[in-house]
Amino acid sequence: MGKILVTAALPYANGRVHLGHLAGAYLPADVYVRWRRLKGDDVVFVCGSDEHGVPITLNAIKRGCSPQEVVDEYHPANGAAFAAAGVQFDIWSRTSSPEHHALSQQFFTRLHEQGFIDKREIQQLYSEQSKMFLPDRYVEGTCPRCGNTDARGDQCDACGGTYEVTELKNPRCALPGDTSKPVLKSTAHWFLLLDKFQKPLEAYVAAHGESSAAPWRLNSLRGSEGWLKMGLRARCITRDTEWGVQIPLGNEDVSGKRLYVWFDAPIGYVTFTQQLFAQRGNPGGWKDYWQNPDCPIYNFIGKDNIPFHCITWPAMQLGANGKVPPGERPYSLATNVVANEFLNFGADKFSKSKGNLIEIGWFVERFGAEALRYYLTAIAPEDNDSTFTWSDFAHRYNGELADVWGNFVHRTLTFTHKYFEGMVPEGAPAGETEAKLRAEVAAARAESAASLDGFRFKAALGRVLDAARAGNRYFDERAPWKQRKDDLAACGTTIRVCLETVAGLALALRPFLPDSSAKILGAFGLDGAAAHKAGSANQDAAALVKPGTALAQPEVPFKKIEEKDLPAEKA
Ligand code: 2FM
Ligand code: ZN
Repeated sequence: MGKILVTAALPYANGRVHLGHLAGAYLPADVYVRWRRLKGDDVVFVCGSDEHGVPITLNAIKRGCSPQEVVDEYHPANGAAFAAAGVQFDIWSRTSSPEHHALSQQFFTRLHEQGFIDKREIQQLYSEQSKMFLPDRYVEGTCPRCGNTDARGDQCDACGGTYEVTELKNPRCALPGDTSKPVLKSTAHWFLLLDKFQKPLEAYVAAHGESSAAPWRLNSLRGSEGWLKMGLRARCITRDTEWGVQIPLGNEDVSGKRLYVWFDAPIGYVTFTQQLFAQRGNPGGWKDYWQNPDCPIYNFIGKDNIPFHCITWPAMQLGANGKVPPGERPYSLATNVVANEFLNFGADKFSKSKGNLIEIGWFVERFGAEALRYYLTAIAPEDNDSTFTWSDFAHRYNGELADVWGNFVHRTLTFTHKYFEGMVPEGAPAGETEAKLRAEVAAARAESAASLDGFRFKAALGRVLDAARAGNRYFDERAPWKQRKDDLAACGTTIRVCLETVAGLALALRPFLPDSSAKILGAFGLDGAAAHKAGSANQDAAALVKPGTALAQPEVPFKKIEEKDLPAEKA
């Protein structure tokens, strides 16, 4: 029981978040947060919009508006989408805030003063027509790896290759209306000397290796090890753009240049925690999470963010820790970087830029948040990419959530109302078969808990569903509709044990399906707050199912989805 800090990657405020985002970081983070709260931990869960970066300026140019207008549109929309899916951040903030700019500059200065940041002259593509340097995304051309003629400045969607913008063949300017051929021109930029952190980062990653007590997932480990093996090199942390955090170097010519979005974005986790505690009237409270060796930090991210979270951001923190301001302590590095693979949509990637996506709000309006949370956890891309299809969604929702769990809850509660006046029956003393079902529920709860502790969300959910299947088998075998006629006491036993199973499994499902679990537990007399009470992870189900307890009227917890409700595949 203690403090923990959970962060979910800050999504770019450059489009609406979609199911790929939710499955990749936000839903598992929310499930984990709910779980740790049920265990009694004091959890802080921060997120917000990543509002800088070239894709946002490019979007603004295309739309003929300012970057601020772009982020002002998506920041609230994305916050609402996560809320609709039941993802409850303690704070949903944004990186365009003055507090965030100030903290990012403080990080830069701490690193610069200690010689971890160096100025270098580099060659950049420049447009004579637009009179500006062209950041990677402002340039298109022919991929130096595969020859694709529509490659982006620094990366090719056709072959997945990445390269320096100067390697791109036949570069052309991606700015609307700019027909000039970009030329190479020399310009000054600032580099973070990552090589100075090679050794401490090797030690950091090794401490979370496969043989460690709490190893990271293989994607984070292998990704970090790969970078370290290649040898860390200085990385440019400024860009030619007017949108972003100002470079805090008064005596240098920094006009037309800002900090690189990937420099300031992870600092957002700290800013948002500071803002949260300022809002709570305890401005120094953030330090108990960020600068406290006893407070673990968990970063939930998609796999494309691994190098930034496992290499660059820890290097920035280690560097900053060399010069701790009065009243502060060193920053803690993340205890675990929980990275997910990608969720694909049919045969393709979910892609904002290609418009191949399903928006969260749209989905929730049609099918509800619980259906979404169930399916995205059931197919969570934890070790491999996974695929969303409408037919699989309907198949698993109907076949598992509705037919297995929903049906078990419904038949048990309905039977109680029909034949036992809605009260938990006393029944006869339970026998061996009942003991087996009780043991199965206890095992499911314990194993699901262990999986949650180990960030294995798919397994944690699946284990509870297995126990619900066992509940249905028991109900079928006992056939209480027949028992009722031959032996009412035995029938009472069956129903009491089924009710215990319903309550026990609803308790276990709370992190995944917060609303329906609270409703089901509501039938046993727990209101929403009591159902999710902090520290109630191990609540005994039998205590809720005492003979004579009156149960509320049941509802069908999960309505079946019909073929006609589904969009055409990949529509
Ligand atoms: O990949 C992305 O969507 C980035 N905006 C994630 C940033 S995470 C963090 F470092 F802020
Ligand atoms: Zn290519």
